[in-house]
Amino acid sequence: MRIAIVYYSRTGYTERIVDELGLYLKNEGFMVDVYKVIPVREYSKPLHLNPRLIYDTLVKRGTDIRFEHSEPKLNDYSAVIVASPIWIGMLSPPVQEFLRKYTVARLMIVTTSIQSIRVDKIEKIVEKLCGAKPLICVNIRDATIRNSVKLREAIEDIAKKFKAIVKGEDI
Ligand SMILES: Cc1cc2nc3c(=O)[nH]c(=O)nc-3n(C[C@H](O)[C@H](O)[C@H](O)COP(=O)(O)O)c2cc1C
Repeated sequence: MRIAIVYYSRTGYTERIVDELGLYLKNEGFMVDVYKVIPVREYSKPLHLNPRLIYDTLVKRGTDIRFEHSEPKLNDYSAVIVASPIWIGMLSPPVQEFLRKYTVARLMIVTTSIQSIRVDKIEKIVEKLCGAKPLICVNIRDATIRNSVKLREAIEDIAKKFKAIVKGEDI
């Protein structure tokens, strides 16, 4: 089974999850291709004070994007995992843009944040952007990502849910 992981990461936490999850799923026998989506104009620091970031996240709900290497041909994949940091309670603008522009059939969402985030809220945001509810929606806190034992547990948990879904089982 071929899986695409599409993600944006500005400070590395989401990228860490993507690296670990990709590796884990590959070891479980999946074929995994990873695509990094980036804004045509990357957001400069300090991020919390960047007016364009705030505008794109809350008002424009997107930004012009490109892919770091190549654009994914989503029809080639059985499932797509989309990962994003949470910015101001929303998905990051590159991921908002991706979800609005691309049709994703079997979608799983992974977000990262400092605080606990209600995943039902993220699900609603995703549904508004792409018209479909994600099959799975998971949020991982930065503190978990910094702790290698907890990170491993989180990855195992996501992979378990993912495998149950792709096998058509209940989670
Ligand atoms: C501009 C900005 C806004 C953020 N807003 C939130 C937020 O609303 N809630 C939260 O828990 N974390 C928030 N964070 C923290 C990030 O979601 C968190 O650090 C995430 O893991 C960063 O992912 P990255 O390293 O892949 O870019 C924010 C970070 C930035 C830079």
